[in-house]
Amino acid sequence: MNSLPDPLQHRTADHDIDDIFLKRWSPRAMNGEPVAQSDLNRLLEAARWAPSTYNEQEWRYLYAHRDTDHWETFFSLLMEANQAWCDQAGVLLVIASHKTFSRNGKPNGVHSFDAGASFENLALQGASMDLVIHPMAGFNRNKAQQELLIPEDFHVDAMVAIGHPGDLASLPEGYVEMDRAPSGRKPIQEISCEGRFQFEG
Ligand SMILES: Cc1cc2nc3c(=O)[nH]c(=O)nc-3n(C[C@H](O)[C@H](O)[C@H](O)COP(=O)(O)O)c2cc1C
Repeated sequence: MNSLPDPLQHRTADHDIDDIFLKRWSPRAMNGEPVAQSDLNRLLEAARWAPSTYNEQEWRYLYAHRDTDHWETFFSLLMEANQAWCDQAGVLLVIASHKTFSRNGKPNGVHSFDAGASFENLALQGASMDLVIHPMAGFNRNKAQQELLIPEDFHVDAMVAIGHPGDLASLPEGYVEMDRAPSGRKPIQEISCEGRFQFEG
């Protein structure tokens, strides 16, 4: 049962944009069903087409499907507050990005920017497929680096929970409120200005 709210009923854009940007959100309620590899491939395909500096494509996606040998390793990386609802995810992802250029080994100052762009592609594709796509910083980076054998010249950027939407009522206490209504956004005037920096914070 999917009892998650419809973001399009809760969010309004101030300017004309495609609905997919409002539809993408980060709920927590999932139903514990597996995510087919073919669906995961569609998400990764979208991630693949993101722009990157010199077309470096420095993002790397490591994944674990639930009920496989890798699941426990990935799940154990998460902080308790995320484990509380991620147990119903179908896939857990770890995103890492190469900190140096493959062509010359020099530092790449935008590796995380590129990985973020790639993630957003994945998230928008997931929204179009009515999947839950929830990014997370709440996990143990060092442990991820060690246990997943991620080389030192890669930065561990984020984890992502992917699953099929579930019942709000199945969430642990304290989490139901978080999923009851998708979040809003600051007005454009607070995040953009013409010319020099003129923001309060
Ligand atoms: C890099 C990053 C890290 C995040 N870490 C967590 C996390 O550890 N746990 C969590 O529940 N949500 C996490 N979130 C989700 C944000 O809270 C959420 O994206 C934000 O509140 C905006 O809401 P929306 O994605 O539903 O539009 C994270 C999001 C991003 C982009």
